[in-house]
Amino acid sequence: MVKKTIKVGLLGLGTVGAGVYRLLQMNGAQINRRAGAQIEIKKILVRDPGKKRTTEVDAGLLTVNPREILHDPEIDVVVELIGGVEEARTYVEEALQHKKFVVTANKDLLATAGTGLLQLAREKGLNIYYEASVGGGIPLIRPLKYCLGANKIARIMGIINGTTNYILTKMSLEGMEFEAALAEAQAKGFAEQDPGNDLEGRDAAYKLCILAGLAFSSRVRYEDIFIQGIGGINKRDILYARELGFTVKLLAVGEEFAERGLALRVYPALLPLTHPLASVFYENNALFVEGNAVGEVMFYGPGAGALPTASAVAADLIAVVRNINHRVENGIMEADFEQKNVVPVESLSSAFYLRLQAQDEPGVFASLATAFGKENVSLDQILQKRNVAGTAEIVLVTHVVEEKSFNLALNRIQKTPAIKRIDNVLRVIES
Ligand code: NAP
Ligand code: HSE
Repeated sequence: MVKKTIKVGLLGLGTVGAGVYRLLQMNGAQINRRAGAQIEIKKILVRDPGKKRTTEVDAGLLTVNPREILHDPEIDVVVELIGGVEEARTYVEEALQHKKFVVTANKDLLATAGTGLLQLAREKGLNIYYEASVGGGIPLIRPLKYCLGANKIARIMGIINGTTNYILTKMSLEGMEFEAALAEAQAKGFAEQDPGNDLEGRDAAYKLCILAGLAFSSRVRYEDIFIQGIGGINKRDILYARELGFTVKLLAVGEEFAERGLALRVYPALLPLTHPLASVFYENNALFVEGNAVGEVMFYGPGAGALPTASAVAADLIAVVRNINHRVENGIMEADFEQKNVVPVESLSSAFYLRLQAQDEPGVFASLATAFGKENVSLDQILQKRNVAGTAEIVLVTHVVEEKSFNLALNRIQKTPAIKRIDNVLRVIES
């Protein structure tokens, strides 16, 4: 029987929850037309109903009791926007057990418990929709799942964390300090409740789990992703990178190598200023996909923020309503994925940027060249940047080498008496 009204329970009324509420008011008539039924928010779970909110919401809708949503037989869809893993998982499981479809923007949850939850959804004849979990307002999940589904994908590479891209853009274009840029990203609602998830690369790694799973038709474990955050990036790295013709971006890279398996990495990297990802600024995100039929495709747009993310959540609501009324969904393909082998990062190859402090004395460059030479690491550029009280700052860039060889060379350098300190090591994308 086709339902004229679909009742929805919202878990969370923060940046994204309030954005969804506002968007359903702003564009409600069109959204309902596309869904083919009236979407009605029946209840909203919050922590603190007395909190002052920027979006005006009827106080009668608010509750602190999740059961008022999860056990309400009138509610067909639960939209989880509280974030975090443990409570979110409990609520999503309970929603599925009570025969409710789920929409979520929670990448932490999907990356750590997604497989089990999707299997449960399948057992119950339901589904979980998660377009908003990666890339905010950019369509990425449906394109990877369906539109590019006929391709063998060799590589995905992108900027998929808005907060870190905002910080790096502010530092690079406006000379802003790290802390001030982070405070702005938090004030704009881009950052996670624990901003360490953004800064230390965990948020991007959760998202890479989801994207790589779909791109390579594999279960991807968060623990298999190599992660380096942006904490060590200094304004001088950004300055030197620019002098060398690069910018610094936090990248997420997933590749599939024939017979070896998947390579999955999140790291800050020097990217040529001419690379299309170099012009992705502020909270914007972008993803490159290389498919063997389609060639190179790039998706670009706002990767965080209230309305962009709400745009993806509301699109999922349209899809779920059509599914409830017309059964248009064709199974949960993610539940069929096998787990592919993952190549350890030490066996991968990259060019590297290194910034170090050395005694300003004859023979230092020669000792560096010897250390690299002994491990077959070939140098592309080497610069002496400044001398403060007898200490020279040296910046160098290698050609592409095996990570293992580079690490051995780094060990040698650390043992060289003239080298006082290694300040930063970053990977370099050559083209
Ligand atoms: P947020 O601003 O911190 O909002 C969280 C909301 O959930 C608040 O309304 C809070 O209630 C409520 N809440 C949290 N824990 C709760 C609990 N245990 N019981 C009841 N209510 C609880 O978070 P957000 O930025 O909207 O993010 C929500 C989700 O979307 C996260 O998974 C996030 O990763 C994801 N996401 C965010 C963005 C973005 O740009 N912000 C973009 C894409 C995806 P109170 O209001 O009473 O405190
Ligand atoms: N904290 C996340 C980011 C929100 O900055 O990208 C969007 O997922």
